[in-house]
Amino acid sequence: MANANLNKAASQKFDEFYTQIADIEKELWYYSHHFKGVTVFCNCDDPYESHFFRYFALNFSKLGLKKLIATCYIGSAIANTQLSLFDYENEENKTTKLPHKIEITEMADENSRDLNGLDLVEYILRNRKNALTRLEGDGDFRSLECIKILKEADIIVTNPPFSLFREYIKQLIDNEKRFIIIGNLNALKYKETFSYIMDGKIWLGATYFNGGAAFFKTYAFDETKASIYEIRNGEYYVRVNGVRWYTNLDHSQRHEEIRLWKTYKGNEKDYPHYDNYDAIEVEKVKDIPLDYSGVMGVPISFMDKWNPDQFEIVGVTDRQNTSGLRTKFYTIEDIESFNDLNRCSVIKIGKKYKTLYTRLLIKHKEK
Ligand SMILES: C[S@@+](CC[C@H](N)C(=O)[O-])C[C@H]1O[C@@H](n2cnc3c(N)ncnc32)[C@H](O)[C@@H]1O
Repeated sequence: MANANLNKAASQKFDEFYTQIADIEKELWYYSHHFKGVTVFCNCDDPYESHFFRYFALNFSKLGLKKLIATCYIGSAIANTQLSLFDYENEENKTTKLPHKIEITEMADENSRDLNGLDLVEYILRNRKNALTRLEGDGDFRSLECIKILKEADIIVTNPPFSLFREYIKQLIDNEKRFIIIGNLNALKYKETFSYIMDGKIWLGATYFNGGAAFFKTYAFDETKASIYEIRNGEYYVRVNGVRWYTNLDHSQRHEEIRLWKTYKGNEKDYPHYDNYDAIEVEKVKDIPLDYSGVMGVPISFMDKWNPDQFEIVGVTDRQNTSGLRTKFYTIEDIESFNDLNRCSVIKIGKKYKTLYTRLLIKHKEK
């Protein structure tokens, strides 16, 4: 059983990258008032490795947490080969490679500030109110064992596997959990994620990673993609583009107004009307016209600045036409590549069609 688990881990090693403490601290600063008396659950987090776990452990009393729980997936094992603190187990099993759970209910933050990895876990466990236990299964966030912990928790905070983002966020929404998680900006376009956005159930976090590109610590170096890695102090960091925080906790940044300066009146030529949507094209968020009361198509990076008191999101340009704003479906009679045109918003210039990247369809909020 142990070997089968380890093989599974090896095949997943490229999923393994770890969020840096500086990025976590920067984002979580905006939410400190949400954590008093709550149970935090990091459900994709090896406590020996995860800085999410470390952040909450080190700030346990400062935030006023009631409990911190972290569970580690079997796949996470590839990263960590340290010996664990399971004193009662035989040598073969005494490894951080097997899925485990840590639960903290008491913590003296001030003595632990410089601790990391095994030293931190060891320090935490000196307090008998805290416990490290083996999980029965593989630590999958979808397992009954982990869902049971999820139900007990108030706020879920982690960087989950991007490939399972749809399932991950659905589980949070279905269980009515509050959360702060990391995902790709493109996940916004998924039908399910977008419906959560339209329903006001999720939004983006307060901070950006450096220009949207996050650097994550990794142990898996892919030679064929050497340019996306950096080596710092002998450790590998991999660059992942288009990374964002997703949350349903309110934060001050989403109430900042986007400052606008340009008018539609007098600049109509800068805002062509789509050929297939009842909306105008706004190429850059900063150029959203102050005085246009109809629907406008903006790049999805608009989400970074979205203030729900200023704008309402009414749809997205996609194949499904969920917005109901599509006015035209192209056929072979229009153009040979009509399928491509039906995937997006289109501007017609003379007889030519110009296709655009996905656009969010927005409107000024009526005051
Ligand atoms: C992108 S890494 C982030 C790790 C950690 N949360 C952090 O931010 O440092 C995603 C983690 O999810 C774990 N994982 C993959 N599939 C999982 C699953 N089905 N259930 C729980 N965790 C999983 C991986 O082992 C990996 O450590």
